[in-house]
Amino acid sequence: MLKKCLFPVAGYGTRFLPATKAMPKEMLPLVNKPLVQYGVEEAIEAGLTEIGFVTGRGKRAIEDHFDTNFELEQQIAGTSKEKYLECIRRVISDASFSYTRQGEMRGLGDAILQGRRLIGDEPFAVVLADDLCLNEELGVLGQMVQLYKQFRCSIVAVEEVPREQIHKFGVIAGNEIKPGLYQVTDMVEKPPAEEAPSNMAIIGRYILTPDIFELIRETPPGKNGEVQITDALLAQAQRGCVLAYAFKGRRFDCGSVDGFIEATNYVYENVYLPEQARIDAAEKK
Ligand code: G1P
Repeated sequence: MLKKCLFPVAGYGTRFLPATKAMPKEMLPLVNKPLVQYGVEEAIEAGLTEIGFVTGRGKRAIEDHFDTNFELEQQIAGTSKEKYLECIRRVISDASFSYTRQGEMRGLGDAILQGRRLIGDEPFAVVLADDLCLNEELGVLGQMVQLYKQFRCSIVAVEEVPREQIHKFGVIAGNEIKPGLYQVTDMVEKPPAEEAPSNMAIIGRYILTPDIFELIRETPPGKNGEVQITDALLAQAQRGCVLAYAFKGRRFDCGSVDGFIEATNYVYENVYLPEQARIDAAEKK
């Protein structure tokens, strides 16, 4: 059923220049792992093991990361350093990876449409790796997959944000059908605060049914002259049903320097250090 997950990764990462001049922003390390790997691990945890990337120029490092590095493997085999490769080896063996290019930067809607070549005619998830989502129990995509099994329609993740930040997001309005779950009645991409239909912001996790592709094709350029997934989803909501889900967990905006630093500190204390302690304890046995 649901097994594919699309990662649009063609963006430039201008806010992190010069770090992102020759390196994809998705490869910036959050402590010891590149940002995009957290998203891929979340997808795998949700049972989505066919990973598709919509890439662009200068993104080769992502392909190399999710592939075996023969020389490195040879060098490190049998040494005490082998443990550092374990988590990426697991990712590579648990999932398959494919790539397609977005020739022109025409917006998130267009990037997802380019991903059709990798998805075909199936429901699929989309992860925007800039939004790091962490939860002590099941991750956000895992929570959304459970909902999809029940409702079988497109679902977007949402979070309440302060009014003064709402202009940075897609915003929904909806009827709450059960606690934390809304049937979408309106959706606007990056509205000025005074025009926002609510303070419920769309976060970079989507489950989409495949009819979205035709709807994107019919969607004219919107905010900033780009084809917006938010506009295509509104069309889908008006025809049938789109749900918005206020997820359990914590989200960091790793597309901004402040959010990235906040995430780094959080991951260091709550993910990295406990993981190292586990590895050390296992070695001592
Ligand atoms: C995209 C979407 C927007 C959503 C946001 C979440 O915008 O277009 O609707 O709220 O991701 O991070 P971007 O931040 O890529 O401009």
